[in-house]
Amino acid sequence: MDQRALRYEQLSDELASMIAGRILRPGDRLPSVRRLASEKKLSVSTVMQALRQLEERGQIEARPQSGFFVRLPMAGQNPQLEPHTRQRLSRPVAVDINNRLMRALSLCDRPDMVPLGSALPAADLLPIASLQRLYRLVGRQAGALLDADSHAGAGVNHPDLVRQFVRHSLTWGQPLETDEIVVTNSCTEALALCLGAVTKRGDTVAVESPSYFLMLQLLQHLGLKALEIPTHPRHGISVDALEIATRERRIAACLLVSNFSNPLGSLVPDPEKKRLVELMAARQIPIIEDDIFGQLHFGSNRPWPLKSFDTTGNVMYCTSVSKTLSPSLRLGYVAAGRFQADIQMHKILTSGNTNPVTQALAAHYMASTAYDRHLRGLRRALAKQVMQMSEAVLRYFPPGTRLSQPQGGFVLWVELPAGIESAGLFEDAVNAGIAFFPGELFSASGQYRNCLRLNCGNPWSSRFERAIKQLGALAANYVTAAKPR
Ligand SMILES: Cc1ncc(COP(=O)(O)O)c(C=O)c1O
Repeated sequence: MDQRALRYEQLSDELASMIAGRILRPGDRLPSVRRLASEKKLSVSTVMQALRQLEERGQIEARPQSGFFVRLPMAGQNPQLEPHTRQRLSRPVAVDINNRLMRALSLCDRPDMVPLGSALPAADLLPIASLQRLYRLVGRQAGALLDADSHAGAGVNHPDLVRQFVRHSLTWGQPLETDEIVVTNSCTEALALCLGAVTKRGDTVAVESPSYFLMLQLLQHLGLKALEIPTHPRHGISVDALEIATRERRIAACLLVSNFSNPLGSLVPDPEKKRLVELMAARQIPIIEDDIFGQLHFGSNRPWPLKSFDTTGNVMYCTSVSKTLSPSLRLGYVAAGRFQADIQMHKILTSGNTNPVTQALAAHYMASTAYDRHLRGLRRALAKQVMQMSEAVLRYFPPGTRLSQPQGGFVLWVELPAGIESAGLFEDAVNAGIAFFPGELFSASGQYRNCLRLNCGNPWSSRFERAIKQLGALAANYVTAAKPR
């Protein structure tokens, strides 16, 4: 073996044993290539060779502009750990989750609870101080925003904000068009407007399984039925199953999150996105796409949304700044394609224009270089937090636990061993001061009773480690109780 080969293998062994000995833990950043080279007195290419070897073995991963990070031991897509999701199509069902959900939300709404419930990023991760400064600036400069004319105008949008939304879509296969955008009070409003525009009571809407509970609540509120489509934990909604469903029955719309779904964190691959968009256009079934997590990718590139494959205006693209700037701004938009005029009218009739001061504030912030910097930092922090939470779940939950491997966003989906009902665990957890959401809230047909969703929006600390350990112990009590004597 030549000297160089020996040196890179030595370095990769050394790093591997630090990972095995947990000196370097999942989510930790390795020292930079330049630092390793200088401290170990090696060439940059020898260090790179060592790191590439660890990368090929699945022990570390490269993140653009950030360096190399330790991966979870399970990373490398261990199917034994992948959660089970619905495999077969069944019939559309009426949704009835509202009361259960409101109860869960109210039980978790205590300031002392460990916040593993609602999918919210910690305030420390958001640019609150910058937004506060901008409020003063916008307030001073924009007296006109508060006068009656700005409210009575026909346009609901602040043009600077729309320009920012379009600017951020320039890297997609097909950017957004300025005149299809309707600025809304949040993503929730955007979704509700879209459903209102293309469905009527009794219609069936195709959704992922599991799907985000707020979407199910909207269906319930509008008297719509949910048709749960099989969804792969990593690759998202099954286009094959959707295709069969569209042949079997009339579907009024398809409502989904193709980039980092909530709760699975799944990502639909580009060829499947294209196929899905073409299929729905051919069948004239509108797509309502929620891309609220699209900017929070852990990999190098921002995945394109379904919207960027849309050539017929059939996709209504909804998002908001709730996960990236602040959920309290209540600011989102829909790029509504061929439904724009209808949606704009619904918007004006139901809530009028979106607050112009908030729009101006967000436009200012999004135009600054601070915005891109903030997003880079946020992605890095969330990727690390998801990894730390995953590792703790694997360590403290009973054997047989499975969990999602999100490639973006910040929720984790956990499947407990068969027989453990997360609804019971939820009551125990609430009593112990720990919030989470039981799996059955993510299904209109009451599936996923042994699953739960965890919010990873907070920086990891001993408080969260203790909470996961306690949740794991509470879950283990059910395993013991379920065992035959
Ligand atoms: C997929 C998804 N869509 C929409 C929302 C709600 O967004 P907003 O606060 O903008 O209404 C959330 C919040 O958790 C979400 O996870």
